[in-house]
Amino acid sequence: MKIFLDTADTEVIRKYFETGLVDGVTTNPTLIMKSGRDPEEVYQEIKDIGVKDISMEVVGNFVEMYTEASRLSQKFGDVCTVKVPCTREGLKVCKALSDEGIRVNVTLIFCAAQAVLAAKAGATYVSPFVGRLDDQSVAGLEVVRSITGLYQIHGIRTQVLSASIRSVQRAIRSWYNGAQVC
Ligand code: G3P
Repeated sequence: MKIFLDTADTEVIRKYFETGLVDGVTTNPTLIMKSGRDPEEVYQEIKDIGVKDISMEVVGNFVEMYTEASRLSQKFGDVCTVKVPCTREGLKVCKALSDEGIRVNVTLIFCAAQAVLAAKAGATYVSPFVGRLDDQSVAGLEVVRSITGLYQIHGIRTQVLSASIRSVQRAIRSWYNGAQVC
């Protein structure tokens, strides 16, 4: 049961990392923008705090995402998990990077079908957006359950990272439904 902080606020990360209970950090362009800082400066500071798994999101077309991802992976080494959107281009990037042994977090997952494609593309993590699904009156936790169930039946090693988590209850129920990370 891993806990990832979903923020680019390095003071918050520092404060909670000290507890020894934080396994990773996920960021996205919105969170980075909110911090008002240069993304790579933020990643470096999170790395210096000691975080071992940092999701760094890339955007653009296949070439742009792949190029940026390779650069980030080289610069930050093993702490770098590349985050890509679950689009056709994103899945192509996921496949290419996974084949090279680079961890990929496929984000913006809203149904089990997307999670199947991400797993086939070699994703280390898939991120179903529990809160955003709930916002649309779709039971986010049920989506988590269907993905973990499917992965279990087929022996898939991709981990389910429950994202867009806004309450302790949603975190606990995500783990109960088989998610490895919240
Ligand atoms: O991990 C995704 C997250 O940043 C979105 O969260 O609460 O804005 O839906 P939220």
